Amino acid sequence: MTPLPRPLPKFAGRAFLAPMAGVTDPAMRLLCRRRGAGLVVTEFTSAHCIVAREGRRQRCGGAGDVVEFSEEERPVSVQLFGSDAGALERAAGIVGPHFDVIDYNMGCPAPHITRQAAGGALLQEPDLTRRILRALARGSDRPVTVKMRAGVSGDSARLFLRAARVAEEEGASMIALHPRTVSQGYSGRSDWSLIAELKRSVGVPVVGNGDIATPEDARDMLEETGCDYVMIGRGAMGNPFLFEQVNDLLERGRYRARSPAERAGAFFEYMEAARRFSIRFPRVRAQAMRFVRGLPRAARARARIAASRDAGQLERAVGEALGGAE
Ligand SMILES: Cc1cc2nc3c(=O)[nH]c(=O)nc-3n(C[C@H](O)[C@H](O)[C@H](O)COP(=O)(O)O)c2cc1C
Repeated sequence: MTPLPRPLPKFAGRAFLAPMAGVTDPAMRLLCRRRGAGLVVTEFTSAHCIVAREGRRQRCGGAGDVVEFSEEERPVSVQLFGSDAGALERAAGIVGPHFDVIDYNMGCPAPHITRQAAGGALLQEPDLTRRILRALARGSDRPVTVKMRAGVSGDSARLFLRAARVAEEEGASMIALHPRTVSQGYSGRSDWSLIAELKRSVGVPVVGNGDIATPEDARDMLEETGCDYVMIGRGAMGNPFLFEQVNDLLERGRYRARSPAERAGAFFEYMEAARRFSIRFPRVRAQAMRFVRGLPRAARARARIAASRDAGQLERAVGEALGGAE
């Protein structure tokens, strides 16, 4: 019997922050939620890693989060990857009680992931996909969602249709599609017509993803494909304002433009938030590079950011780049 999809949390907006390893840390997610992202998703996390961290946590007296997040982020989804159904079930049991949604990664093109039959490689494995989705549903009572690519390579570019059917049969609550193949990586354009095809073929909400850089792109994807929500990745790097702009465009037909200086200014809020979590300095510095994009003399600012060795130097580097922008 097909299980009913579990109810999703209420989303405050139709634009979600895409999971991005190395980018969507809890501080970045917080900035995006504060500016209207309807849902934020953690970086993908290995099921084995979660199980091992929980073991360590218990041995060390139970302190600390296995996957860091804050209450202010809610609704927040945790993205898992892996191909070991048992480990995924245990991981879902560990993180499920803390998160609003469990998302399963069927899109990662990185060879070290696809070699383990995980990420995008799962698109070729409908039986394993079924076992994994069942295991995730057994592991916790949270809604399970799936994020997938369209296919593996040019001659298997439509595997998403079969994978989506399996997901629906296993009670997935929502399906996100990045319509490129695994072998395409990030080259070319994503094929939005495949998002429309997915929307026509499933009954659960569909999230369209791929190449949204402006509020108008988000509106166009919603209108052209009929998808229920959009998910923004690279366009939101160093630019959390994109979410409030999408919401304003959809609700009022217009939005406030943000200058490069306003975007760079938001980096100080990022730094403040980052102090609450165990985010390492090189990560914070890499985020600074993204926030200063578009500033006059950005190349000079980037060189100073790259040379900074602690938070104080980094703050001064961004501050000086901003001073030059006034
Ligand atoms: C740096 C980076 C890291 C990513 N990490 C993940 C990830 O952890 N999980 C995932 O499902 N997708 C990941 N993606 C893919 C994005 O979620 C998204 O599907 C893709 O970038 C297309 O959307 P965009 O054109 O809005 O960037 C990553 C993309 C980038 C650029």
